[in-house]
Amino acid sequence: MEAPCVRVPRERGEATRQALAEAGALEETLRIDATEEWVYIPIDPEASLPTTDPVVTRELEPRSRQTLPEDVFGEPFTYERLGTIALLDEDDTDRAERMARALMESSLPIVSVLNRSSKVAGTYRVREWELLAGETTETVHKEFGYEFCLDVTDVYFSPRLATERHRVISQVDGDEHVFDMFAGVGPFVIPMTDRGAAGVGVDVNPAAIPYLEKNAVRNDVADRLEAINDDVRDVAPAYADWADRIVMNLPHTADAFLDVATTLASTRCTLHYYDIQSDEDPFTPGEMAIRRVFEPAYEVAVLNRRVVRSYAPHEVNVCLDVDVRAG
Ligand SMILES: C[S@@+](CC[C@H](N)C(=O)[O-])C[C@H]1O[C@@H](n2cnc3c(N)ncnc32)[C@H](O)[C@@H]1O
Repeated sequence: MEAPCVRVPRERGEATRQALAEAGALEETLRIDATEEWVYIPIDPEASLPTTDPVVTRELEPRSRQTLPEDVFGEPFTYERLGTIALLDEDDTDRAERMARALMESSLPIVSVLNRSSKVAGTYRVREWELLAGETTETVHKEFGYEFCLDVTDVYFSPRLATERHRVISQVDGDEHVFDMFAGVGPFVIPMTDRGAAGVGVDVNPAAIPYLEKNAVRNDVADRLEAINDDVRDVAPAYADWADRIVMNLPHTADAFLDVATTLASTRCTLHYYDIQSDEDPFTPGEMAIRRVFEPAYEVAVLNRRVVRSYAPHEVNVCLDVDVRAG
């Protein structure tokens, strides 16, 4: 729209803007414009100006102000963003519906709102969700430059683990063989493969593998990644002694798959072993389980003991980075 502006040389632009703001003369609903020589600062035509610089008329863009969900809802509330989907964890149905409306009416790019209706459960580690607004439960989540398409009602995915994944992925060297025993839609194995490694990702959930394959193409690593829909126990013999690095992100039951890891491990291999344990002693059970299975055939050295996040009262999700070397 055409609006009155103060025109000032660029070098005095910021000082003039501040002076106009302090005098209450700045028109905040319009964007400031600039050329190589001049800055055009929109003004309230009714205010008295703290400057003698010329006032001109210029076509200016409106300044878009984001409407946040809390602006619509009336108070801040917690939600998680997964691509264009907002995830809630709210037991009060009425409040959840109002939150969903606020999210949809906000200026955030949200197309659906889901509310948790069960814990993560079953072999596939998927939870049940109630669709409160919108139509789709599929989205594309972006993480450290990678894109993961997924349907949160069909596959496991947690955006909260992004930093932890990044920590582990950063350890990968280009010439490694990486084996993700419980790959899901690929948030570990795809970036690892992108670092130059040859990757295998296995998942028993038939819904996960088409996403893993699509995400491999989307992130341009399909030529170096094999995606297999099966129980990793049945896949392992075909990759005996193959893996230089193994990701075991199946907390609660990873210990039951350590024998499978011994089949996969090459003579020197790094394990990333995820576990959920009491916060009083979260690392010893995993470390003991690894030693029980790998020793004495392998020397075991724990490289890192890391608390990833709190999981429940007095329970933590941890990761052990462990080097195993055939003796
Ligand atoms: C906690 S999720 C982790 C998925 C993925 N690594 C991630 O971080 O998003 C565990 C995955 O293991 C898969 N899974 C469970 N048992 C399995 C098995 N015996 N063989 C292969 N995959 C299995 C589940 O379907 C699920 O996708």
